[in-house]
Amino acid sequence: MIDSAMEEALNGHLNHEFYSSYLYLSMSAWFQRTGLRGHAHWMRLQSREEQGHVTRMYNYLLDRDGTVVLGSIEAPPTEWETPQAAFNAAYLHEQGVTQRINELVDLSLKLRDHATHNFLQWFVREQVEEEAVVSDIVGRSKLVAGDGRGLILIDQELATRRPSPNVEPPPPVLGEGA
Ligand code: FEO
Repeated sequence: MIDSAMEEALNGHLNHEFYSSYLYLSMSAWFQRTGLRGHAHWMRLQSREEQGHVTRMYNYLLDRDGTVVLGSIEAPPTEWETPQAAFNAAYLHEQGVTQRINELVDLSLKLRDHATHNFLQWFVREQVEEEAVVSDIVGRSKLVAGDGRGLILIDQELATRRPSPNVEPPPPVLGEGA
């Protein structure tokens, strides 16, 4: 049975992961409208990865005999000044997620909740990768800064992203999955 303070904090983070998915889906739609299909593809996969993060939290709460509380999800912005601004916003967002994960880890230590501490280590490692990947794209976006040909090259590269094998599938329905 999970401590109620930890349960509440994990539910808050589950909601924030939903927001991450919303944010990147909104960015994907905006990129698609601007004609940058590779950027749109990359962001759609990122949105799907965030759904996987939601599912990890959801499954963990249920495994610990916790209550899943699904709250309303904040609406994300619908447009950005430039592709670079959008990726910069994604980078800032991921830094905020890292901060939130760190706070969850702090709480698990304070509560001596070793199971949750262990569970959160996956997210700690994941945030290192998330920040690094987005920061790398921000760097290249800065280099081309508005140059159409450079942007097309980045777009072609982002179009090659493949789904991660580590994405947690959505909760199975009866007759599906294991
Ligand atoms: Fe779920 Fe991008 O952090």
